Amino acid sequence: MQEIAGDRQDGASLTTGATASTLGLDMGALFARHASDCCELYGRHGNEQLVRMLKIAGYNVGFCRGEGPYLYDHNGTKYLDLLCGFGVFAIGRNHPAVQAALRSVLDSDLPNLIQMDAPRLAAILAERLLKEVPYLDKVLFANSGGEAVEAAMKFARASTGRSGIVYCDHAFHGVTYGALSINGDESFRSGFGPFLPECVRIPFNDLSALENVLDGGDVAAFIVEPIQGKGVNVPADDYLQGAAALCRRHGTLLIADEIQTGLGRTGRFLAVEHWNVEPDIVLLSKTLSGGYIPVSAALMRKQIFDKIFDRMDRAMVAVSTFAENNLAMAAGIATLEVLASERLVEKAARTGERLMRAFSALNTRYELVHEVRGKGMMIAIDFARPRSVSLRTEWDLIEAAREGLFCQVITIPLFADHKILCQVAGPNSHAVKFLPPLNISESDCEWIIKSVEAVIAASHRVPGAAWSLGRTLVSNYIRSP
Ligand SMILES: Cc1ncc(COP(=O)(O)O)c(C=O)c1O
Repeated sequence: MQEIAGDRQDGASLTTGATASTLGLDMGALFARHASDCCELYGRHGNEQLVRMLKIAGYNVGFCRGEGPYLYDHNGTKYLDLLCGFGVFAIGRNHPAVQAALRSVLDSDLPNLIQMDAPRLAAILAERLLKEVPYLDKVLFANSGGEAVEAAMKFARASTGRSGIVYCDHAFHGVTYGALSINGDESFRSGFGPFLPECVRIPFNDLSALENVLDGGDVAAFIVEPIQGKGVNVPADDYLQGAAALCRRHGTLLIADEIQTGLGRTGRFLAVEHWNVEPDIVLLSKTLSGGYIPVSAALMRKQIFDKIFDRMDRAMVAVSTFAENNLAMAAGIATLEVLASERLVEKAARTGERLMRAFSALNTRYELVHEVRGKGMMIAIDFARPRSVSLRTEWDLIEAAREGLFCQVITIPLFADHKILCQVAGPNSHAVKFLPPLNISESDCEWIIKSVEAVIAASHRVPGAAWSLGRTLVSNYIRSP
């Protein structure tokens, strides 16, 4: 048991017998003690609708441990996590190297967040990130993806002296006000307006729409996810290069939001590398956390950065209290080490190809499967209204209740029967999305391929359990307040 050390202001010392457990600070014990009342407690004090959804869909299994790509419930049943905390656990859960790095920070009593100091671990992490993206020069750290997006929007406006921000249909850059102002999906925005002015939405993958809007000469930045997270939409091969050329010609900055796609997710360190594009600003987060400490980074050209930090009295014009904290920086440094030492970027490319090949074979065999798309370990299977009458009748019934409800007929049995956790690719989407940790094994791949095929095969049987589940979902949805 760990002793809590340190002197208090009133002179009483916590070293006099107080331990983590007597203070109720043994988090493992506290976590275990609330196994049975967790949903009730969370619903009472937090998001009750989330708890309802977990119960209806059967996700409230009481996960109590995570290791690598696996989660374990209270019975010890093992699940394969292809949701990955929305992309956070690219190197797996509770990676021992990240744990060791974080423990070493705690054990060293390092000075932290001095603010009147050059933070050493931040300098080291910045240098290591820029080694991977050598055409950029500076790094601004922040605490979340959304915060990095906000910084990029501010820096683009201030450095160009222009106000327009162009973004894409279906874009997801977070839910803070700036980020929400460039969110390409009404379901996230509804009720929260008004938003930032001069944010212009264009279709993804449409260079002439981009050219039209840039022609006005008042656009500070075009922000784009190289592969859109909502829907896993992969651009045409000439799109990002074309967009970069248009931006350059019009004096507009190109911001690549690689918060989800970056750090190996798509089989390259950055997804833009698939198309040899060098953006002016690159945003990273999720994976950089090592699955532990929230962190984000905006990598950019020196000319942009220096326009914001242009005088000594503006040295603190764009800082965030916790942004360069030691634990976050250590998590980032350790994650980069793990990615390199386990060759996870290359592994993601290889494993991703294998999964894409296996899923693509389903496309020809099952009429509900419309398309398989993605790169590396960011893959979606897109479903569409079937041709055969019996299947189409079932499809229409559940899709009439809510567009995209069909995907639950795939994701719920994957979880309940095959112990695979994954997600629908976005609101009203017909795509099921897989974000596996980059280091899954051969046998994990087999597990995924067999399970996905079994669930898709079952969804083609009418009548069958899959469509009974569909009808239950419809009645739950209709009863939902
Ligand atoms: C591409 C992209 N940008 C930004 C964000 C927002 O990140 P956060 O939720 O950390 O604010 C996300 C989160 O899913 C994302 O996928």
